[in-house]
Amino acid sequence: MTETAAPTLHRGAPAGEPLLHADALVAGYLPGVNILNECSLVLHPGELVGIIGPNGAGKSTLLKALFGLVQIREGSLRLAGEEISNLRADALVQRGVGFVPQTNNVFPSLTIEENLQMGVYQTPHKFAERLEVVLSLFPELTNRRKQRAGALSGGERQMVAMARALMPEPSVLLLDEPSAGLSPVRQDEAFLRTRRINKAGVSVVIVEQNARRALQICDRAYVLDQGRNAYSGPGRELMHDPKVIELYLGTLATDVDAARAAEQGRGATPTTDEVSPSA
Ligand SMILES: Nc1ncnc2c1ncn2[C@@H]1O[C@H](COP(=O)(O)OP(=O)(O)O)[C@@H](O)[C@H]1O
Ligand SMILES: [Mg+2]
Repeated sequence: MTETAAPTLHRGAPAGEPLLHADALVAGYLPGVNILNECSLVLHPGELVGIIGPNGAGKSTLLKALFGLVQIREGSLRLAGEEISNLRADALVQRGVGFVPQTNNVFPSLTIEENLQMGVYQTPHKFAERLEVVLSLFPELTNRRKQRAGALSGGERQMVAMARALMPEPSVLLLDEPSAGLSPVRQDEAFLRTRRINKAGVSVVIVEQNARRALQICDRAYVLDQGRNAYSGPGRELMHDPKVIELYLGTLATDVDAARAAEQGRGATPTTDEVSPSA
């Protein structure tokens, strides 16, 4: 028997159960048009899992389906072993799922603090306690609590959006392209912040257009293509998989070098790496 439970950021799954298990999801927006075609994803407690893939692959659609915003037509979605397909977003928040959409993810006319308050509208008595925990993850926001979110930079807004999603103490956080539209420095901060949130005990699914960077920070990742799982595995393994590089990570480093050289000098000689051995 436990006497006092240690404070944690997350609620877990029964031993051995994935925290989140999407199995062969079929989902879409328009009748008869499926965007996800038997798409599957597993998130174990404590994991940071990435979803990468070309534009239009269905990455955002998958996150929305996980959060009850796109109708799941077939397949199953379980949270800690319990079926949660097509539950409404507010019911999912109550069960410990948080979602940060790519855009329109703050209330611009509200202050930072009011935005965070919206995060716990279902459990307002938790506000003070959660505010303290969340601000410890985002110390940059502490002195700016009374500022309107609409006046913030893109990077700061992204921070507020993540902080808001963390207010109800989710066990699973779904992030849609947190680095999109940010400068390289702010992108790095968004990745570091995601890692920090994960290390604090929140299991994270992150959709990213910056595929290489995502693969560097993720425990495991899924490559989606046309609403289907194309590849999956440990982030670093995918990053070095020639097929994944060829199909989804754009160009090889050597190609980038060659392109740069061509741009600079038109006719610059390729580096030895690209010179194919004469047959
Ligand atoms: N609200 C919507 N209504 C109808 N089709 C949509 C909607 N949102 C996205 N789609 C379509 O779903 C497909 C996948 O989009 P999306 O999930 O946004 O891809 P990704 O996030 O991988 O770029 C695209 O073909 C897109 O046109
Ligand atoms: Mg998207």
